[in-house]
Amino acid sequence: MQPSGHLDLVKLKLIKRITSHVSSLSNSWNTIVAMANLKISFSQALPAHSRASAVVVGVEVSGRAVKLSKNNLDSKFASSFDLASLGVSSDVGSIKKLAGPNGSVLALVGLGEKLSSDSVRDSMGAVARELGSFEHAVLDVPFSSKTQLLAAVEGFLLGNYEYITYKPKAEKRKLSKLTIVTSLKATSAELKALEVVSAAVHRTRDLVNAPANDLYPEVMVQAAKKIAKGLPVKIKVWSEKDLVSEGLGGIHAVGKGSNRPPRLVKLEYKPSGAKTSLALVGKGITFDTGGLSLKPAESMVGMKYDMTGAAAVLQSLIAIAELKIPIKATAWLCLAENMPSGGATRPNDVIKIRNGKTVEVLNTDAEGRLVLADGLSMACEDSPDYLVDVATLTGAATIALGNRYSGLMGDEKAIKKVEAAAATAGELVWHMPLPEELRPLLNSDIADIANVKIGNRAGGMLIGGLFLREFVESKTTTKPAWAHLDIAGPANNDSAPYGYTPKGATGVTVRTLVQLARDLAS
Ligand code: BES
Ligand code: ZN
Ligand code: ZN
Repeated sequence: MQPSGHLDLVKLKLIKRITSHVSSLSNSWNTIVAMANLKISFSQALPAHSRASAVVVGVEVSGRAVKLSKNNLDSKFASSFDLASLGVSSDVGSIKKLAGPNGSVLALVGLGEKLSSDSVRDSMGAVARELGSFEHAVLDVPFSSKTQLLAAVEGFLLGNYEYITYKPKAEKRKLSKLTIVTSLKATSAELKALEVVSAAVHRTRDLVNAPANDLYPEVMVQAAKKIAKGLPVKIKVWSEKDLVSEGLGGIHAVGKGSNRPPRLVKLEYKPSGAKTSLALVGKGITFDTGGLSLKPAESMVGMKYDMTGAAAVLQSLIAIAELKIPIKATAWLCLAENMPSGGATRPNDVIKIRNGKTVEVLNTDAEGRLVLADGLSMACEDSPDYLVDVATLTGAATIALGNRYSGLMGDEKAIKKVEAAAATAGELVWHMPLPEELRPLLNSDIADIANVKIGNRAGGMLIGGLFLREFVESKTTTKPAWAHLDIAGPANNDSAPYGYTPKGATGVTVRTLVQLARDLAS
């Protein structure tokens, strides 16, 4: 065990970057300012072209060919393109850059078969990603409703992201102005809400992309404290000593092998008049080596992403507070670094979770469920109406669902709400079962439950869900409606960027969780 120690310059810089959007939020919204450094304006006509600007025109399907969608370009100029020979595609988000008028650039973006909020969010996200070297993007795309217009802005904000903290010589994105040619109108409140949520997604990505040598439990605590400052959010931190004295044996057992001690953090937003309560619990393994059940070298790469759940619930709670959503919301960050050492938990060790249940740890690499068991138990002590946990819990989730869908398990009541919120937000979730017949696999010879079934490969994601369910209980009132999101697949995009999704951390579930809070509050 080591004292938490001081944070050196790198870490301070890291926290500063992670929290840098906060100060921009307190600025008054006299102009329509979205996303730190991105000014958005609406125009009925195409603004004058310049070298610094890119004009974005849509490409849509026309029979078996493609054509430019309705636009405001000079008609002679627009009809001069032979789209087929230029290899222009109508696939959502595919982009072709051409020389435009007056030294500007024309970006032709595929809009897919039919415009929808989801396709627009993706195509405009791709536009923002691809046009980072321009100062000004002009969208000359015929959005057909305000919902689509807002989805376009959201996609653009989400796509306008880069993580270059560790590339000091890299050229920064220049994109600072967005003009949308449209007669549709969005209110500044609507735009501000988009900015708040996209900023929360960006901050989640920043935390998750940060390497584990600079981001460990105490750094997450500092980041949480800093971002919550100035907001009506209460924050409580359990030190390693507190974890032991308060019976949080899961988080402690996972973190005790590391020189960087584990923590539990509770953030609470309790606006007056709130009728419903929502507790969010996040897996925050800042690095998952597997512990003594050590991962093979290739599987260990990427395990800095194992704190995505904690980062997502933290930033969602902040966004909920910034948006003043009238719901009582809490976020529980279960923070530990899973390391092998002389002080680490061994296979066969028996630990005790906060709710009194004992767990035989048969595989120290199934550590997420151990920290979440404590987090869920603690959350249940407040008797929330709804309880949602978010975790990069199992490799099996990626085997079952690939890298874009989150696995969704739990009670019918909570499932329905999360499914609806995800659909509104435009994130992909898939309802998976919790089959009763798998539960006996977790029977332990000497403890209440084991954390895995050794040698079993069937239904790994579902067994993770069944384990967590044991810790959703209420001794006094009715059980909260619970949902579990296994985000092992979509937390990190290790293939090429697409739509508004960059390579690396995606910030997945933040938009769903904020939407869930909105839905439950209304
Ligand atoms: N953090 C991993 C799950 C994971 C794997 C996330 C790949 C993202 C990509 C988790 O702690 C883990 O190691 N789970 C084990 C569980 C098993 C021992 C029952 C797994 O998936 O192999
Ligand atoms: Zn693990
Ligand atoms: Zn893990």
